[in-house]
Amino acid sequence: METDKLITEFTKFHIQQAVERLLAGGVVAFPTETVYGLGADISQPQAIQKIFEIKGRPSNHPLIVHFSNLSELEFWAEDIPATAWKLAEHFWPGPLTLILPKSKLIPVSVTGGQETVALRIPRHPIALNLLEQLGSRKAIAAPSANRYGFVSPTNADHVKCAFGDKIDVILDGGACEIGLESTIINCVDNNVMLLRPGGTPLSSINDLLKQNIQIQPHSQIRSPGSLASHYATSTPLEICPTSEILLSRSSTLLQQGIYTAAVTRSAPQISSDKLHHVLMPDEPIAFGKLLYATLRKLDEANFERILIEAPPDDLEWLAVADRLTRASHSFRK
Ligand code: TXA
Ligand code: MG
Repeated sequence: METDKLITEFTKFHIQQAVERLLAGGVVAFPTETVYGLGADISQPQAIQKIFEIKGRPSNHPLIVHFSNLSELEFWAEDIPATAWKLAEHFWPGPLTLILPKSKLIPVSVTGGQETVALRIPRHPIALNLLEQLGSRKAIAAPSANRYGFVSPTNADHVKCAFGDKIDVILDGGACEIGLESTIINCVDNNVMLLRPGGTPLSSINDLLKQNIQIQPHSQIRSPGSLASHYATSTPLEICPTSEILLSRSSTLLQQGIYTAAVTRSAPQISSDKLHHVLMPDEPIAFGKLLYATLRKLDEANFERILIEAPPDDLEWLAVADRLTRASHSFRK
């Protein structure tokens, strides 16, 4: 992709600095269309080690390897099934991650000791240009740039707040276009399966492959980043199945004097200075884009409880529903 024309001279200068830091074994944060990533050159084990240390993430949790050129897929993966090619050709660059058997060039420090690798070509111009400038046959391992267990960052300030000067360079690309992580598809066996719903709608994948992809039970694969507790808010977050139930729950909590935030997709029917209302879009893509920033704000605002209206039981809302279920973990514990 010709990314050179899409970014300013100023950004190019910062990307060049980031490339130098990566080549020198440093860690840099960069925007992708999904969330910000915390990246290191995959060929430098001590740089990969830094990612785990900075994030506070256990070293057996595998990282996504980002690269820029589809013609290099065979460089990073082996035994690539036809379905994986089809997905890659259609959805890359974009918010889709494919799990494939790893090639010898992928160090096990990146894959958490597994023989499979998570691969993605992102479509954000800064991410792509960074990868292109790093050079051919180079790749960046990057988890989301948040502390382990917290929600992913969707703007550069989120990254700064979490890590400050622990990171050599933070490339600022503004707010992420999608705001939820990539969709992860396991292509290791002939039977493709969904590991994590995300930025690429499952319906688009089903349409392309002319099949209904099944959700892989977590027990069948080591994908530690999909633990139920991931992305949990520290304020207990309760999902209310309907707006009516949310209304009655908020009344009960208000009577108990509990400082509550209510997140709905329709106008509030209750007014009280003890209840803070957040109106979210009634459309999954717009909702997903705002979700993490909204959860962060509410988490920082000292509420004692967050109530949130359940999303519709619909394939288009799958990624949002998944993240809300995880965010509600502290309440369900
Ligand atoms: O949108 C995204 O995917 C962002 C941006 C930065 O690309 N990255 C991201 O990375 O969300 P992370 O590390 O926060 O989540 C990666 C997920 C984890 O759930 C991890 O367990 C899973 O990918 N994963 C990585 N390698 C795997 C493998 N070999 N097999 C199964 N799951 C894997
Ligand atoms: Mg993450």
